[in-house]
Amino acid sequence: MEEVSMRVAVRIRPLCRGEILEDEEVCVQIVDGQHQVKVNTPEEVINFDHAFGPNLTQKDVFDTCVHPLVPRFIEGCNTTVFTYGQTGSGKTYTMGTLGIIPRAIDDIFNLLNEKKGIKYSLATYYIEIYNEELRDLLEKKNDMNIILRDDKWGNTECAVNTKKDLLHFLEEGSTRRRVGNTLLRKRSSRSHTIFTIFLRQQRGHSQKTKDGIVKGEEIISKFTFIDLAGHERMGRSENKMRFNESININKSLSTLAQVISSLAIPNTDKAHIPFRNSKLTRILKDSLEGNAKTVMIVCINPASTLDTLTSLKYANQARDIKPKTMVNHVNEQYKQELRDRKKAVKQHLQERKHVSTSLQRSLPDKLQTIFFKLF
Ligand SMILES: Nc1ncnc2c1ncn2[C@@H]1O[C@H](COP(=O)(O)OP(=O)(O)OP(=O)(O)O)[C@@H](O)[C@H]1O
Ligand SMILES: [Mg+2]
Repeated sequence: MEEVSMRVAVRIRPLCRGEILEDEEVCVQIVDGQHQVKVNTPEEVINFDHAFGPNLTQKDVFDTCVHPLVPRFIEGCNTTVFTYGQTGSGKTYTMGTLGIIPRAIDDIFNLLNEKKGIKYSLATYYIEIYNEELRDLLEKKNDMNIILRDDKWGNTECAVNTKKDLLHFLEEGSTRRRVGNTLLRKRSSRSHTIFTIFLRQQRGHSQKTKDGIVKGEEIISKFTFIDLAGHERMGRSENKMRFNESININKSLSTLAQVISSLAIPNTDKAHIPFRNSKLTRILKDSLEGNAKTVMIVCINPASTLDTLTSLKYANQARDIKPKTMVNHVNEQYKQELRDRKKAVKQHLQERKHVSTSLQRSLPDKLQTIFFKLF
């Protein structure tokens, strides 16, 4: 298994029927097996971790880029896949109900079934960012704006018992996503979607010791799938609603671009990385900077020269990002440390009689936040 935390792949879709009828020319191709992409004008060759031409299938993309992440997720690492590219380049096709997510779900259940002696539970949430508001796609009435906090989300997670449940959540949530007709295409995604699978595992048996019952090891990990809305040139959107959507889509994607360029510079001062400037970058923070194995798949419309070069350069920069990866153990020793810390702080506060009661009341919440920040 490769040990690089951030991998960038390029997928060039075939020309669609309309483009063939209009005699559009292909402006980009794969050279040198599966790693280099050549743009025709101006001629330029760019390297990637993987490159998939128009003849390669959904299975090829999944097997090469995403399948290797599944064992890492089961080991307890956070893993993320996201699709990036211009409107109509194939992001939803690659990620959505026909692409990566159902295949990953299949792999996850197969691997969990092979493991013996693990007790586990799964949960999911499926949300979208539409006009800088977060909406729960698993709620029938999803017009509520979820409040985003750094430690946890709100009541958006649903427990999952079977593969069928999870596929059902994916299908149902996907039908609620905002799509709309634009000048360029029908059914364009008007929001960024985030589908997350949480896995909580209990390994080993509880044991009786002189200090009481010691539980087996507990591990929590999450697998996040992000399908971004496509970048658009502003003149292309027709009415006011579409215009506003485009402004928001482009704004969050340019914040993502700024974050990626800052992270790609070695020794950047972390305080100056603009994660907080959009909801998208706040959510992606974990995957880009924090504890995650991440794959970015850049989708390309081969008929669009200018957009292709922009997307490829942007993606190539992302190869320089180096997120850290580690297993998220929630072990007894850690829990004991947390209990000791809580006890010590309480004692300290009791000794300081002048401390206000309101501060004491807020204490458990703050400790809770520290706990959640670990994941
Ligand atoms: N690899 C592919 N093979 C065949 N058809 C594809 C492929 N990729 C995309 N398509 C087709 O191209 C069209 C656009 O794809 P898709 O909806 O995934 O684009 P998108 O990047 O999500 O666009 P938007 O940003 O507007 O949501 C769809 O009709 C889709 O079926
Ligand atoms: Mg889409």
